[in-house]
Amino acid sequence: MALGSDSRHGMWSSRWLFVLAAAGSAVGLGNIWKFPYITGENGGGAFVIIYLVCVALVGIPIMISEVMMGREGRSSPINTMRKLTDMAKAHRAWTFIGWMGVIAGFMILSYYAVIAGWALSYIWTTAVGTFENATAEVATTTFNEFLSSPLEVVGWQTLFMILTIWIVGHGVSAGLERAIRLFMPLLFLLLIVLLVYAFNSGGFDQGVAFMFDLKFDQVTPETWLIAMGQAFFTLSLGMGTMMAYGAYVPESANIGSTVVIIAVLDTFVAICAGLAIFPIVFANGLEAAQGPGLMFVTIPLAFGQLPLGAIFGTVFFILVSFAAITSAISLTEPALAYLVEEYNAKRKRVAISLGVICWLLGLGTVFSFNIWSDVTFVGGLDFFETVDYISQNIMLPLGGLLIGLFAVWLLPRKVLSEQLGMPDGPVSWLWKLVGGIIAPLGVAAVFAYTIWPMLASLFNL
Ligand code: PFF
Repeated sequence: MALGSDSRHGMWSSRWLFVLAAAGSAVGLGNIWKFPYITGENGGGAFVIIYLVCVALVGIPIMISEVMMGREGRSSPINTMRKLTDMAKAHRAWTFIGWMGVIAGFMILSYYAVIAGWALSYIWTTAVGTFENATAEVATTTFNEFLSSPLEVVGWQTLFMILTIWIVGHGVSAGLERAIRLFMPLLFLLLIVLLVYAFNSGGFDQGVAFMFDLKFDQVTPETWLIAMGQAFFTLSLGMGTMMAYGAYVPESANIGSTVVIIAVLDTFVAICAGLAIFPIVFANGLEAAQGPGLMFVTIPLAFGQLPLGAIFGTVFFILVSFAAITSAISLTEPALAYLVEEYNAKRKRVAISLGVICWLLGLGTVFSFNIWSDVTFVGGLDFFETVDYISQNIMLPLGGLLIGLFAVWLLPRKVLSEQLGMPDGPVSWLWKLVGGIIAPLGVAAVFAYTIWPMLASLFNL
């Protein structure tokens, strides 16, 4: 029986530290960079509602499954899956979930560190006043020139990787927990500062209307796919991160309510980020649907037109960097914990090796924006888009689907009742219905829709 035992990697010192750590993993570039621009591109409020439905019906049940499986296994996702498949007398092939998570973590971290490096560099670029009263042309050229200089981008990517590896190398309590205790409260504080600033920018009503006006005429089946993919990415689901973090959760924590708090916090930050960003965009008569460039072109431009813009713009990029680092550390945990367990290796050494491999893979993303911009892979995607597509659109939903099915249909009932404190009855039926049928079906539909066009183009269907 796992309840009561400890993980060899350490434990969160309380339930609230797990909440902060998991929220730290969940809140990242997905909330501050992706959520606002995909909301902008997909019809505002209607998208927000669809996204909330995906979080409630798919995200929360799958996160409960991951955390519960992690706490039962008390080790890295690969070894947890080994234990659980034995326990459930299921086929060993289910350990594939753990392996896929390790690989997805590498892939995501490789490009995540590059984009986080852009954010780090923008702390400096904004602080020195580059965008003060700048024109759209200046903002665009600044970004394009930065991207076209591989050396500069690699420098910032390297700095971000070193920070990440330095933190994770110190272990769960001295590394992860300490960073999380410091960065998470600061992150919330900076977000409030920016919200107050946005409130006074003159575009707040327009920003609120944009986020909450229900433009259902703009909703297509594609909207659902995008919302579901975003729910997975932003809640860090489908690749064992929450399973790895779940292994360090104290036995006394109630998983169901803890997960709901994490999902609510993550969603709250995404909506606050939108409410902080859109008003300053509208206050300057700029367009909200600017794609991925929203954060690095539109936002600096918007801050540059506002009073004290250089200061608050700098605050914004510090916020983004904090959010990115607490997510990046969680991306390494599944692989790191596994290698430490398997080879009895020193955590610091493993962390450095992992960092070097991720850094090397990340060079592909750096070059996608300059010297390799013409090199394309499957479906005409460049290196960065390919890594992003395979990890986010294929591996995360597939991982989530398998985790949901395994937790509800294969894990012995004893584990469910011990971990979730759920006796047979209406609550257990609801969990089976949502976690075991609705969530996997939703993911399967998204999965099929997302990879179908790729398969069709590959096989000329
Ligand atoms: N949730 C993070 C974000 O929204 O930026 C990204 C992420 C972190 C995805 C950890 C997956 C993961 F395992």
